[in-house]
Amino acid sequence: MLLNQRIAIVTGGSNGMGEAIVKKFASEGAIVVIADIHVDRAIQVANEINATGGTCKVFGKVDITDKNQVQYTVQETVKSFGRIDILINCAGGVLSGNGTSDNITMDDWNKVLDLNLNGTMNMILEVLPFMKAEGYGKIVNFTSMGAFNPYSTVLHYHAAKGAIESVTANLAFELAPQGIYVNSVAPGPIRTTFWDKLMPPGEERDRFMENLAEKEVPLGRMGTAEDIAGVALFLSSSLSDFVTGEKINVGGGMGNIISHNSTYLSSKENSIINK
Ligand SMILES: NC(=O)c1ccc[n+]([C@@H]2O[C@H](COP(=O)([O-])OP(=O)(O)OC[C@H]3O[C@@H](n4cnc5c(N)ncnc54)[C@H](O)[C@@H]3O)[C@@H](O)[C@H]2O)c1
Repeated sequence: MLLNQRIAIVTGGSNGMGEAIVKKFASEGAIVVIADIHVDRAIQVANEINATGGTCKVFGKVDITDKNQVQYTVQETVKSFGRIDILINCAGGVLSGNGTSDNITMDDWNKVLDLNLNGTMNMILEVLPFMKAEGYGKIVNFTSMGAFNPYSTVLHYHAAKGAIESVTANLAFELAPQGIYVNSVAPGPIRTTFWDKLMPPGEERDRFMENLAEKEVPLGRMGTAEDIAGVALFLSSSLSDFVTGEKINVGGGMGNIISHNSTYLSSKENSIINK
């Protein structure tokens, strides 16, 4: 197994990509701690894993923007399991509505940066002393392909994700001599509850996603949470022991193969956010 007895904390692990990562890691032998604001759902996921022979733990609600809650889960993890080998910073998201310069407020800006950027940093700063003490660690941050290839304007969200790429590069540089790896995953369009804030589930959204997959994604489909879990596993295991400071786009060929300049998503009539 690729993560035998590795100790991993996964933020956002009760839903979407985080949940898929938690399950994949547990099936590869890791002891997984879920740090999520939706604690009931986190406990449900942990129970499912523990019932099938894996090991998954929830030490309480964790809002990654709350330093005390983050500190508590990190300390309980070390008390219970002795160390932290892997940190997956998957929790993140957008606000409902639109993030263009016409609509954005500084209040929205601060909220979105707080969740995505400060929350990620909170986790990193709490976990790092324990990784440094062991001389080993794998950190995987979650950003977005949209930060560098925007197909819609979501200024605060993309700014936060772009900043996380800078944090990733800088930390990788700083921490390489200490055996700590820092990489990022930049998802393309992945079918999860993330989209609920942008467009309610239903026929219109299904049609939108079908068109998006057909017209924008070279591989011709929306991504799944499991597509992401495989890449997170690669970056968290010894398979990636000569990889640090990298961003892996997981977007079915988007971003690398085609530009968005005159494509489906960038046209005003099809954009779900910039209408
Ligand atoms: N789905 C996509 O198409 C897409 C595209 C690009 C980037 N991303 C990024 O990928 C990551 C995972 O997204 P997803 O699609 O799985 O989203 P999701 O909405 O399905 O899941 C997000 C998880 O984060 C948790 N969470 C939210 N706020 C939190 C907080 N303050 N503290 C702790 N947990 C919190 C939620 O409870 C949920 O379990 C996010 O960082 C997101 O920004 C998603």
